[in-house]
Amino acid sequence: MKVDVLLGLQWGDEGKGKVVDYLATKYKVVARFQGGPNAGHTLEFDGIKHVLHQIPSGIFRSDIKNVVGNGVVLDPVIFKKEIEELSGLGLDATQNLYISRKTQIILPTHRLLDAYQEKLKGSKKIGSTLKGIGPTYQDKIGRQGLRVGDIEMIGFEGRYKELRDKHLSMIEDDDISSKISELEPLFFQAVEYLKTLKLVDSEYLINEEIANNSGVLAEGAQGSLLDIDFGSYPFVTSSSTMVSGACSGLGVAPSKIGEVFGVFKAYCTRVGSGPFPTELFDKTGEKMRKQGHEFGATTGRPRRCGWLDLPALKYAIMINGVTQLFMMKADVLAGFDSINVCIGYELEDGSTTDKLPYDLVNQPVKPMYKELTGWNDTMPSSANYNDISQPLKDYIKFIEEEVGVPIKIVSLGPDRSETIIR
Ligand code: GDP
Ligand code: IMO
Ligand code: MG
Repeated sequence: MKVDVLLGLQWGDEGKGKVVDYLATKYKVVARFQGGPNAGHTLEFDGIKHVLHQIPSGIFRSDIKNVVGNGVVLDPVIFKKEIEELSGLGLDATQNLYISRKTQIILPTHRLLDAYQEKLKGSKKIGSTLKGIGPTYQDKIGRQGLRVGDIEMIGFEGRYKELRDKHLSMIEDDDISSKISELEPLFFQAVEYLKTLKLVDSEYLINEEIANNSGVLAEGAQGSLLDIDFGSYPFVTSSSTMVSGACSGLGVAPSKIGEVFGVFKAYCTRVGSGPFPTELFDKTGEKMRKQGHEFGATTGRPRRCGWLDLPALKYAIMINGVTQLFMMKADVLAGFDSINVCIGYELEDGSTTDKLPYDLVNQPVKPMYKELTGWNDTMPSSANYNDISQPLKDYIKFIEEEVGVPIKIVSLGPDRSETIIR
């Protein structure tokens, strides 16, 4: 059996966590392959609402192995806290949790560096989640990062100090010593805790599961428009958020990839800086934010809101070879008389295109819209696709015809049960 990959197709927060949790029972393994605590994946069921940052979203389903892959950057302090929070909900996450020895570790100084680098950028800041993601991936590529497997080896503390001191020499901050003396003991406590968990060579684990015909679901974090290569650079995250990231982030061959599930919202949101062609600055945008509770799951920041952007969606589908689409948060648009969908852009010279231009940062585009009729749907008690309204069906059909990929799941609420399969 091949590995199915689930990806966000926009700027993150599409509802990946909800849908991974929903689908997880069909799989034996759920694995994260990139990103780290910058992610916030929300799960809702049986009156529980829980946000996962580094733990895969299969954790609430019993007997599923949840793997943190080598492509992830892991903050041991946040990871320990996450496990403790799950324990508070009566769930012993340690039993079904496996961490790759090749996963890179986020040090306290990576977080301090992230904040410092953002400060230096001033008005050009990325709007990073300040979790140390960029600096940790920089050290990985710079071949000086520390990996989870290193904590079991002699000399870890010395290597840690060497890297920490390098980082400290890069930061100008009078308070740095007191910050470090506060953060370091917590880091080492968390490292000791990490040693008690299942540290594995996850590329073997995953490939053995594939050979045993177990279902494996790779859970993406962030979204294609935040990808390091194909996102709205430099306003991106520092990892490959694409299907190919699942291969390198888990040690899975491209020939072993099965379905590619693309998750998108019925509209668009973005948190942090960077171009967003269909962003709404008016009451309509405010209404979307209010109805969609569009506030970051990791940072609490208000998310910028706008209409669905088809050129951007088609681009994400193309670079990932998406085979099935899942449309989320259709209920949030209930009560809008009409709904706009961006079908192309007008460029500064007056020409038009339905492709995503190279530079959206310095050469803004004007979206061209098609207007569709709004709907008033909430989740039908039958959970049957036939019972949703005609305008919503027309919206789905319009998107499918435009992008050429079927929409197989329609989500009409945050709860696990508010999901329609087509
Ligand atoms: P992720 O990062 O892709 O997992 O998404 P987030 O959890 O950051 O943000 C998605 C938010 O939308 C969460 O608060 C979810 O509970 C919520 N959500 C997911 N699907 C739906 C839906 O169909 N309708 C509504 N109203 N909320 C949803
Ligand atoms: P999930 O998995 C939405 C954004 C940040 C910032 C940029 C870079 O929940 O969809 P970073 O901390 O990675 O250096 O920040 O990327 N960002 C996200 N936006 N959802 C996420 O994850 C995000 N992870 C990072 O807001 O603009
Ligand atoms: Mg999120």
